[in-house]
Amino acid sequence: MQEPELFARRARSFGSNAVAYARHRPGYAEDAVEWVIGDRARVLDLAAGTGKLTETLLAFGLEVSAVEPDDGMRAELSRLLPDVAALAGTAEQIPFPDASFDAVVTGQAFHWFNNPGALAEIVRVLRPGGVFGALWNYDDQSVEWVAEMVRLSRTSANSEQDRQVVDNLDHAHKPRHEALTEPEEHRFPHAQRRTVESMLSTLGTQSSMLVIDGAERAKLVDQLRTYLWSRPETSQGEFDRPLVCVAVRAYKRGA
Ligand SMILES: C[S@@+](CC[C@H](N)C(=O)[O-])C[C@H]1O[C@@H](n2cnc3c(N)ncnc32)[C@H](O)[C@@H]1O
Repeated sequence: MQEPELFARRARSFGSNAVAYARHRPGYAEDAVEWVIGDRARVLDLAAGTGKLTETLLAFGLEVSAVEPDDGMRAELSRLLPDVAALAGTAEQIPFPDASFDAVVTGQAFHWFNNPGALAEIVRVLRPGGVFGALWNYDDQSVEWVAEMVRLSRTSANSEQDRQVVDNLDHAHKPRHEALTEPEEHRFPHAQRRTVESMLSTLGTQSSMLVIDGAERAKLVDQLRTYLWSRPETSQGEFDRPLVCVAVRAYKRGA
């Protein structure tokens, strides 16, 4: 399969497992969200999925709108957060007028956008002085058992670029656009409470797992289960999965 086709399949894969996604993906570190948003009130959660980041934004008392292209993901968001206006749309075609928001944020999704088109749209819906923030949760591979789990969870759908990004947390996905200030990055440690089985469910929501065939997935999950049961850190019941929330922010010029 050609790389661009695989990329597109992965970008569209999440809705096939939307209920598990909502149940098993981690939320975002509150201090990371605060660092990005500051005191901005009207916020768009772009590529909102099932509302993981939306939920944290709401906890800050912000006025939040959501845009998400996948019907399955959006339906789950609306079921869990019925008061949020969740619109169908993409980062390349955001269904809002110019200067609608003080902040546009996106969780675990900026790398799926087609740029520079998406950044032009993000800039369009931001008011001058508004902020664009991109957040990602990465496994903290400075912890040995975690690094091995990440290595074992690689599938035939992972690209070399994925490996570089995930292994070095040194991602190439910085939002660079002439109308935005130079992006700033900050990292926030946090954790997700897991058991062996819920950890496997979390890994099963990754696009690289969703797009492979059932036989490859079953083999990988078996290997991962055996591994997690073999480690003292993960085989005693509940454990903390150490995460690093990487946050990047850039401001629209001209305030
Ligand atoms: C890994 S999920 C992240 C969902 C949510 N933001 C979160 O933090 O859990 C990636 C999301 O990006 C969406 N997506 C993929 N390509 C997109 C695009 N071009 N524009 C907007 N959303 C897109 C997918 O449908 C999916 O819901």
